[in-house]
Amino acid sequence: MLFLTLNRLHEYIEMVEFNLPENSKITNGKVHRACSKAINIKTFKIYRYDPESDDNPRLDTFEVDISKCGPMVLDALIKIKNEIDSTLTFRRSCREGVCGSCAFNIDGTNTLACIKSISEIKGDIKIYPLPHMPVIKDLVPDLSIPYSQYTSIKPWLITDKSSPGVERLQTQEERARLDGLWECILCFCCQTSCPSYWWNGDRYLGPAILLQAYRWIADSRDEATSERLEDLDDPFRLYRCHTIMNCTNTCPKGLNPGKAISEIKKGIVKRPR
Ligand code: SF4
Ligand code: SF4
Ligand code: FES
Repeated sequence: MLFLTLNRLHEYIEMVEFNLPENSKITNGKVHRACSKAINIKTFKIYRYDPESDDNPRLDTFEVDISKCGPMVLDALIKIKNEIDSTLTFRRSCREGVCGSCAFNIDGTNTLACIKSISEIKGDIKIYPLPHMPVIKDLVPDLSIPYSQYTSIKPWLITDKSSPGVERLQTQEERARLDGLWECILCFCCQTSCPSYWWNGDRYLGPAILLQAYRWIADSRDEATSERLEDLDDPFRLYRCHTIMNCTNTCPKGLNPGKAISEIKKGIVKRPR
């Protein structure tokens, strides 16, 4: 084993040169000024990455006249794409916080651009892709891994009994157990804010997927509770959660994935073996 005195350690640290991996330094990119007649200018600094360019990654600056723009950050992104730079790439669909596709890191927080108001943000607005995911282009992360993890939890009703031929009924109390779970739109804001997922994203399922897993465990109509709990009882799939709660603090739908994870852990302890 190697022991270093504190002084030797400092000398050693001074000698070491740290080289960041290629493409990890963000340079200042193009600046798109507003026209001289603009009344109310807001500056957007947007992460750009083009897999077919060497000029990567960079932070482009766009000055937008927000007196001629809708109120949300997504409105500004759409205006920039339509009027300033059509190559800017991002996902979006519903524009009302229900599809989960416009999730970005805005002003340092993972959230949905279509429900994040421009006026809430003081100063320049910085927009990055969801953190710690491979980037396909600009603000579009590669979500293949979380989607394959989603498939792994079998997000559908599993029953042994044959279909009753009518709706599978629930009491009001049984239905209420799904509140706070069914509203999840799989935006992955929580998933990509979780430090455990950053370091172990290939094996830890992460808060979004575990909340979805609990949605089926909590469903009175599902008959695979025991198998579902057994499948999650794994040091990596479940127990990388260290209750840091970034996930719950970040969720733009006000859900509590940290609580869902603790309910799964309780279910594993209580389940008959
Ligand atoms: S509570 Fe668990 S899932 Fe949520 S951020 Fe913390 S470690 Fe991640
Ligand atoms: S729990 Fe919230 S933040 Fe996480 S995926 Fe669902 S809606 Fe998005
Ligand atoms: S566009 Fe659908 S959630 Fe924002």
